[in-house]
Amino acid sequence: MLEKAQQLKQQFEEKVQATTVPAELEQLRIEFLGKKGPISSLMGELRNVPNEQKKEAGQIINEVKQFIEETIAQKKTELVKLEEERLINAAEDYDVTFPTEDETGSYHPITLIQREVEEIFEGMGFAIEDYDEIVDDYHCFEALNIPKHHPARDMQDTYYLSTNQLLKTHTSAAQNAILIKYTKELEADRPIRVIFPGRCFRNEKIDACHENTFFQMEGVMVDKDISISNLIYFMKTMLSEVFQQDITVRLRPGFFPFVEPGFELDIQCLICGGEGCPSCKDSGWLELCPCGMIHPNVLTAAGLDPEKYTGFAFGLGLTRLAMMRYGIKDIRVFNSCNLKALSQFENSTFVEPEKEVK
Ligand code: PHE
Repeated sequence: MLEKAQQLKQQFEEKVQATTVPAELEQLRIEFLGKKGPISSLMGELRNVPNEQKKEAGQIINEVKQFIEETIAQKKTELVKLEEERLINAAEDYDVTFPTEDETGSYHPITLIQREVEEIFEGMGFAIEDYDEIVDDYHCFEALNIPKHHPARDMQDTYYLSTNQLLKTHTSAAQNAILIKYTKELEADRPIRVIFPGRCFRNEKIDACHENTFFQMEGVMVDKDISISNLIYFMKTMLSEVFQQDITVRLRPGFFPFVEPGFELDIQCLICGGEGCPSCKDSGWLELCPCGMIHPNVLTAAGLDPEKYTGFAFGLGLTRLAMMRYGIKDIRVFNSCNLKALSQFENSTFVEPEKEVK
């Protein structure tokens, strides 16, 4: 009996080693442990074993049986893992980003305008930073002089996560971290000059002009003696380059708790030249970029002395700018995945929006 059991074990071991897919294991299980298999026939043979040896013989058979069961289970885990790896590797052989012969793809208009503006600011000595899309209440509001229950929060309702975090409502959410990170510039007697583009989210009813997901480009500059004229200069230079013509800007008072004074920066309508037309709702001006001088509390929250340093911040509406730059009339196009609409802007120069007939 012992000899037979050992033979069986050896037979099984050879076969199990040769298996390569999980299905083969199932066959082996039936072959060895099934009703008509060698284990059950060994059990049957127990009848002929003398009584005093029965217990020991039974134990031997059980041990082999257990060994077979355990080995199959173990091997199964191994083979399933191998199979998964094989599938993953096979998937990697297929490159979804590989261009087909006649279609090379194109950049999204937001990417195009973002890169363009980045390049302009880079040329003016600004660093470019990337920041999280999931932020906490402190960075999105409190560090920006918007305490809990402040009414300014109403305009920026967003998507809250169960982790006490939220999807950032504006790129200003990065201001505190950026100012802290770049304090070393001031210590080295250089200004802080950083732009940080990003995707923002708000609880918004979607229509042609409103989206719950949009892009902004924030910028800050801090140094001794930074004034509103610096702000106007940088904005004007940047916009003139984007639109490839001299741009006239004006500032109107605007309220944002993290700037003081705060402004809405308008540009003179490019279609009517300021005379008034349907595109600018007859005002001659288009609202483009909220901005202002960084509030002393925001500087203090970042560990900077407001008596010593001043700075400006702006929150350029990148999505808005792309609409103006490329003449896109419906904001929903940007998140539409409509390749026909989105792929036509590469290498395009300024698209003058159609003049509407009064
Ligand atoms: N973060 C503001 C908003 O999204 C815009 C802003 C940025 C205003 C910087 C002033 C300074 O509404």
